[in-house]
Amino acid sequence: MDLKDFLKKVPIFSDFSEEELNKLLEIAKKKDFKKDTVIFQKDETGNFFFLICSGKIKVILETEEGREGILSILYPTEFFGEMSLLDGEPRSATVVALEDTSVLIINREDFLNLLYNHPQIALKILRTLSLRLRKANRQIETLMFLDAPGRIARVIIDIAMERGHSIEDGILIDLDFTRQELGNIVGISRETAIRVLKTFEDEGIIDIKKNHILIRDLSKLREKIY
Ligand code: CMP
Repeated sequence: MDLKDFLKKVPIFSDFSEEELNKLLEIAKKKDFKKDTVIFQKDETGNFFFLICSGKIKVILETEEGREGILSILYPTEFFGEMSLLDGEPRSATVVALEDTSVLIINREDFLNLLYNHPQIALKILRTLSLRLRKANRQIETLMFLDAPGRIARVIIDIAMERGHSIEDGILIDLDFTRQELGNIVGISRETAIRVLKTFEDEGIIDIKKNHILIRDLSKLREKIY
């Protein structure tokens, strides 16, 4: 797919005319990152806005001992790096490519001009920030109130609601990241994540395949949360 066709599918640019898309392509630069590359580090100065064209990235916080917490995983047509450009503060988190990833990069001045000249983009970005804040609040709630089984149940249900497929036996989700990363989303170790998943499997609630989880009994999974 060429870049212009791709941009037509990006929600924040969906109202753009052909001419506006052409102008956008003049200011945006394509950049490729190999799997596991750090795209930028927390606390660096932020000068660019990033739009994901292909691949996926994780937004993380790390401790000095190298423990990692995942704030979010973002996919094609989603953006990151807007916060530093909007508030002038350093990068709030580190961003790492989870697989080979291509992005479009727009510099601070061009990004801010886009917002001034196209208030509908500013509104769409605000809407996304609001949805991200909701998700972050939910993550805080999970970490404050739920035990390990509750945390795993909630993250599986959230993924199922966002991008699960209903099939005859239940809801199938692609688990396109590792058990370690699943644990890192909800603040538990890889070992605990594996143990809890195994218990759910033994109880007939889920089936675990290599890269998929099949939710067989959604109500029982929901019961794990409270
Ligand atoms: P910035 O602070 O410039 O750099 C890190 C980026 O990660 C940030 O902009 C956002 O784009 C993104 N980010 C930070 N926190 C979250 C979150 N909780 N959910 C989704 N994206 C986030």
